[in-house]
Amino acid sequence: MTVQDSKSLKEFLAAQEKKSLLRFLTCGSVDDGKSTLIGRLLYDTKLLFEDTLSALEKDSKKFGTTGDDIDFALLVDGLEAEREQGITIDVAYRFFATDKRKFIVADTPGHEQYTRNMATGASNSDLAVILIDARKGVLVQTRRHAYIASLLGIRHIVLAVNKIDLVGYSQEVFDDIVAEFNAFAAKLGFLSQMAIPLSARFGVNVMEKSSRTPWYKGPALLSHLETVDVDTALADKPFRLPVQWVNRPDLDFRGFSGTIAGGRVKPGDTVAVAKSGRLTKVARIVTHDGDLPEAVAGDAVTLTLADEVDISRGDVLAAPDARPALSDQFAAHLLWMTDEALLPGRQYLLKLGTATVPATVSGLKHKVDVNTLEHLAAKTLALNEVGYCNFALGQPLAFDPYRENRDTGGFILIDRFTNATVGAGMIDFSLMRATNVHWQALDVNKQARAAMKGQKPAVLWFTGLSGSGKSTIANLVEKSLTAEGKHTYLLDGDNVRHGLNKDLGFTDADRVENIRRVGETAKLFVDAGLIVLVSFISPFRSERRMARDLLESGEFIEVFVDTPLEICMQRDPKGLYQKVREGTLKNFTGIDSPYEPPEQAELTVHTVQGEPEAHAMRIVAWLRERGYV
Ligand code: ADX
Repeated sequence: MTVQDSKSLKEFLAAQEKKSLLRFLTCGSVDDGKSTLIGRLLYDTKLLFEDTLSALEKDSKKFGTTGDDIDFALLVDGLEAEREQGITIDVAYRFFATDKRKFIVADTPGHEQYTRNMATGASNSDLAVILIDARKGVLVQTRRHAYIASLLGIRHIVLAVNKIDLVGYSQEVFDDIVAEFNAFAAKLGFLSQMAIPLSARFGVNVMEKSSRTPWYKGPALLSHLETVDVDTALADKPFRLPVQWVNRPDLDFRGFSGTIAGGRVKPGDTVAVAKSGRLTKVARIVTHDGDLPEAVAGDAVTLTLADEVDISRGDVLAAPDARPALSDQFAAHLLWMTDEALLPGRQYLLKLGTATVPATVSGLKHKVDVNTLEHLAAKTLALNEVGYCNFALGQPLAFDPYRENRDTGGFILIDRFTNATVGAGMIDFSLMRATNVHWQALDVNKQARAAMKGQKPAVLWFTGLSGSGKSTIANLVEKSLTAEGKHTYLLDGDNVRHGLNKDLGFTDADRVENIRRVGETAKLFVDAGLIVLVSFISPFRSERRMARDLLESGEFIEVFVDTPLEICMQRDPKGLYQKVREGTLKNFTGIDSPYEPPEQAELTVHTVQGEPEAHAMRIVAWLRERGYV
């Protein structure tokens, strides 16, 4: 590369630096012409820069990482950080520029049945181009895309009515589509909404206005994208720094690193630690290239503080006069993004900014019909559905409503066993209820009650298929313990379902709630000093783990009653398998409803050999050896 080239490249990059940036995404159904449109924008705008681009091309060949392609990463800084936001989803970001503006377009490819790609692209876009095939008009998919875009904080919409050539450049067709879309989108609160008739294939109204649509009075797509005002001014919002890590290379230096999610900060500013409420002052703003006099939203920095304060990853440094909410409960919209349905009551991991905590949907208020935006009663959410939920977290977090800050108000839900991202959430507001309910300390406690009874309280949690022998063995264990003067209580699935849980059936969602309640009840009985025997199918690992986590270490003893399905079917003590065969009983565990066997049960009982009495004696002996009785 010559000195000349390097100078022009620098100038080019400097000029790019000064231009405003528009982030947008395109959404459409398969074959709506999304790729053609993006391709056209990329290709046609490139021509404007032929000289500079050839310099860049040479440069990329020397230094880039993309082989013969142009390495646009050389132009787009900060993009990488976004890709690392923790969502592993298929979104390609493409860069292009005109002399007025630079653009990053989130290209969300293929398999359109998955809104997760779209949601990821939308969460950091300012505008959405929604493509419609003029021949097909407004589809369910169109409404869903518009609704999700609005949920994810996009305030500007372009309705690109594509393939207008295939409807004879008809104004009537265009007007009808726009009227139908507007009637729907009126409820979504977009700040700007522009409908453009176009043909991506023939370049009609893409770069320039076309004489083919003389009746269309608005701008071409590119002119609109160049001028639309989407200023989100994150830098004018209250200061937020979610702490990503505590940087402590030696005893003399202690810095808090992260990307500023809102506002600005200077040395000398007072900041509040969201969790503890402690106030302190910013001492320095440290970066790779030396200290800064000021940093703003989007900057990755390390702050050092005037005082030794207790701060860890996941905490938030905030403006003291405009602090985030701090709560372990909030209401939020939730977009469900996976095939397996949402189960209220199940524990998921919730990742908000730099914090990750266990969380459950404690109430599903309603789901939203994307066609009518009506609220419908629901017990679960299926793939692509949106619900409005209350969340309960394992510990309090600092957050803002999503409408005020997408970074500190947006979260994802992760499955605890598969680690897959299963949902995306947008916080509406904090629920304070739980914050004002405090644990009441009592003078007579678990230890005192257990000592009186001369035993170590615990839960023997029997899990296994229906007919495996859980209740038979649990019953014998209880008989043997009470004969020795021990204090016990047996919670049996069939019995509890006659009272406390008589409102629950056998859907996955109901089974999750069934076990949640039994787990909580068992915990109360352990607190009462009892040895509790729980005999429930409890088919899901997640909920057995939740029950385990409710108790202290050593208090939860999982007993897997491991009887093969064929044997259970032969025994059929209640005649239920017969009903399954006759087709009158559905959702039966092991048949058309899953059973997830334990991976690390404390005890496993193989009932194929041996009498129930012998198995029961073995369990009692196990308890005795370990000092429970
Ligand atoms: S769990 O799956 O939610 O843990 P639970 O142990 O409470 O189930 O109840 C299981 C008992 O309900 C079985 O022993 C059986 O008697 C009865 N039952 C009725 N319908 C079903 C069904 N569809 N699946 C499993 N058990 C059923």
